Amino acid sequence: FNLTGVPLGEYTIKSKVKYTSREGELRFVTDQDSFKITPEPITLGTVLFAKVWLFAVWQYLAALLLLGLLVAAAHKGKEYWELHKKYQHIIVDHRLLPQPGERSAYVGLIAETHIRAFINLESLTTHTIIAGATGGGKTISAQDIVEEALDHNVAVVVFDPTGQWSGFLRPCTDKSMLKLYPHFGMSIHDAKGYKGNIFHIENPREYLDLQSRIKPGFINIINISKIDPKELDIFVANTIRQIFKMNLPESKTLKTLFVYDEVHRLLPKFGGSGAGFIQIERACREFRKWGVGVLLVSQVLSDFVGEIKANINTEIQMRTKSEGDLERVKNKYGDAILHALIKASVGTGMIQNAEYNKGRPYLISFRPLKHSPQRLSDKELNLYSKYNNQLADIEYQIQQLKDLKQDTFDVELELKLAKDKLMEGKFTMVDIYIDGLVTKLKSQFAAAGATPKQRQIKLIPQEEIEADIAIAQKERERYTQEMIKKHGKDYFENKKKGIEKPPAPKEPKKSEDPVLHFLERQRAKGLTDDQIKKKLLEHGWKEKQIEKLFKKEEQEKKKEKPSKDPLAELQLRLNALMAKVEAKKKEGKDLTLEIDTVTLPGDVKLALASKDKQKAQQLLKKMDEIEQKHNLR
Ligand SMILES: Nc1ncnc2c1ncn2[C@@H]1O[C@H](COP(=O)(O)OP(=O)(O)O)[C@@H](O)[C@H]1O
Ligand SMILES: [Mg+2]
Repeated sequence: FNLTGVPLGEYTIKSKVKYTSREGELRFVTDQDSFKITPEPITLGTVLFAKVWLFAVWQYLAALLLLGLLVAAAHKGKEYWELHKKYQHIIVDHRLLPQPGERSAYVGLIAETHIRAFINLESLTTHTIIAGATGGGKTISAQDIVEEALDHNVAVVVFDPTGQWSGFLRPCTDKSMLKLYPHFGMSIHDAKGYKGNIFHIENPREYLDLQSRIKPGFINIINISKIDPKELDIFVANTIRQIFKMNLPESKTLKTLFVYDEVHRLLPKFGGSGAGFIQIERACREFRKWGVGVLLVSQVLSDFVGEIKANINTEIQMRTKSEGDLERVKNKYGDAILHALIKASVGTGMIQNAEYNKGRPYLISFRPLKHSPQRLSDKELNLYSKYNNQLADIEYQIQQLKDLKQDTFDVELELKLAKDKLMEGKFTMVDIYIDGLVTKLKSQFAAAGATPKQRQIKLIPQEEIEADIAIAQKERERYTQEMIKKHGKDYFENKKKGIEKPPAPKEPKKSEDPVLHFLERQRAKGLTDDQIKKKLLEHGWKEKQIEKLFKKEEQEKKKEKPSKDPLAELQLRLNALMAKVEAKKKEGKDLTLEIDTVTLPGDVKLALASKDKQKAQQLLKKMDEIEQKHNLR
């Protein structure tokens, strides 16, 4: 029988056989039996090969396994990436950074995140310095800031010794820049050229007529590549003098931004006399009230950070190899930042401003440019020179006509229109206006019976510039005296080195807050006991006093512990621990393996991400044990 398809159950089968025996008799035999049809027994084989929908079960299982493997690999990969993040030890509280808004400049992303980083435009009125090695991305980050300033209707003047800034007038078509757009949330439609003009200056005393050139939302690029480096000081003094003479109205918001690229060239060690700096210092002290910001771009920072730094509130440090600058970063901000900066990629740099992130520095990856990073062709540059010369000639002739008491209303208006068209890069229109103006002026001169005089380049007398430098020098002395009186004789030296002066040693009194506070800040920077001790010794502390201080710190810590939020403390403690491990490494003792510095940061990250207080407590305890065991206290 074939029982396929018969329902499960108990069956009885009966048989009845009729046959003829040998004897020839007809006989009957009957029999019956019962049996059960039961479900097939379940074996691994039947399950694995059972078909569910299109595939056999084993095929599904194999696919699941593969998926699991992939997920695990991705997870491992992410973990690896997290651990090898360059900037993971840097504490950034995103709530304490400038937020998007009407006066916020979008300059890039917080390094290794997708969080947008902004600079408050008004903070540019307390001046900015961008420092770093050649090729680290100083000019590009300055150009990001300038693009944003222009987009917010600020007038910009750039003093450009390299010619790199001329691309500002054309949209970005550079493939390697455009490729970065999506990562920074930008689209091809963001690429744009800015409105403005380019001038070539050859004489450092040339009158720049900034007053008529400055216009909100427009950029004036003053190319100074032809100025003899020895005369750069004079040029800078000249520009600052002209800004002082502009009679700008007072303003609380940023109205004008002056950019000096490659400003280290003014330093004596790069061939300058230092006079230019004295003027810049004066500018940084006084320009603010007019809403004028100064943006300095330099290869080195520590060399002129003393008096100037006291008046510059935003510091951007790109990757650097300058020992002085590295030392300064270490002194001022600690090891974590130092290491991040040494490793920083091109275009990523540290930013520090007292109002951002509680004054703690953090890293920004600066965004690609909207304008063209390529300089204009010589042909285009020559066009700008030609038109600027023609327009200056026309202006000079109009002035002569005015002196002859002629009516110049029409020609003045046309001249203004021609200038505007040039700023917009509309060369054909400029040509038309110039042709018209030349004809009109010719007939006006003929009518007045006069011939126009040739224009000479207007120069500021050398004595005037020197007198100005002398004034700046005097003011600097006065200012220096004032600061020294206020803060002590090492004030500028310390500012330069980035050293924070610890409070003078005193017999410990009941409330010794300032000293403990000082200690706390040094710890947050990741300084080890030895480093702090050295600092204190340098400032007249005695061994015994220092020991007492550390003890006191320990006691205070114990007191505070229960009330502290373990999550808040965790990252700080990890930073301090890692810094100590690094310090030991320098002394030749590598604790990396023993302490398992590979998983520890990962665990901390996890605890922070999941806000797991219990885990945080455990990790803090673990760190306590590690510190005790390896004598890192
Ligand atoms: N934020 C950035 N995005 C993309 N490329 C950058 C960035 N910063 C720098 N670069 C690249 O590095 C090069 C050098 O940068 P630049 O700003 O001219 O350096 P510096 O002024 O420090 O000498 C640029 O031409 C550009 O190719
Ligand atoms: Mg540069």
